Amino acid sequence: MADGPHLFHPESRHIPELADLLAGWKPGKTASLGPQTPNLPATVAELDGRLVGFLTGHHRFRDWNALVDLRHLAGTDGSWLAELFVHPAHRRTGIGAALVRHFVGESIAAGCSAVIVRPDASDSLEEQETRKAFFVELGFSALRLDPGIRFLPDWLMGRPNDLG
Ligand SMILES: CC(C)(COP(=O)(O)OP(=O)(O)OC[C@H]1O[C@@H](n2cnc3c(N)ncnc32)[C@H](O)[C@@H]1OP(=O)(O)O)[C@@H](O)C(=O)NCCC(=O)NCCS
Repeated sequence: MADGPHLFHPESRHIPELADLLAGWKPGKTASLGPQTPNLPATVAELDGRLVGFLTGHHRFRDWNALVDLRHLAGTDGSWLAELFVHPAHRRTGIGAALVRHFVGESIAAGCSAVIVRPDASDSLEEQETRKAFFVELGFSALRLDPGIRFLPDWLMGRPNDLG
């Protein structure tokens, strides 16, 4: 796109446009919208003054022991990308990638060693495949979970921050 989206942390997630955006995603999704909190801050993407995407996540992931491939990061902080959504009418224009790169940049600035992303359990198989293709394109790969450690998601993907 000629002019990329404007990315910023809104003061509150209680913004009407965001509710509209989520209403077009999944029934009940608006229920997960709480006030903007330090624990799960949101980043939103605005294009031509309109809200077109959002991401939530935090930079305090520590549960490396459950992740076979990333146990060597024990003792470090990681970033947890929880939710990501781009308005259907604006997909495949780089907005999702811009939001993830922005989050990875914040993760690196916060001194975190890797970014982990988890699925939404309510996703259809098609949605999961789309997401996997998207995150692979951004340098993420599937992580092996330790079967001996109870870990709720069926799959996780991760990206060490030293990839550049
Ligand atoms: C997944 C999602 C965030 C991608 O956002 P987006 O803005 O459309 O993605 P981008 O335009 O930045 O795509 C970057 C690259 O990812 C890959 N990609 C994105 N969507 C894809 C799809 N549907 N199928 C295959 N590859 C895809 C492509 O390589 C794409 O580059 P290209 O368009 O030049 O080929 C968006 O489809 C979405 O909101 N989906 C529903 C919610 C969801 O699954 N969220 C993730 C929760 S963690």
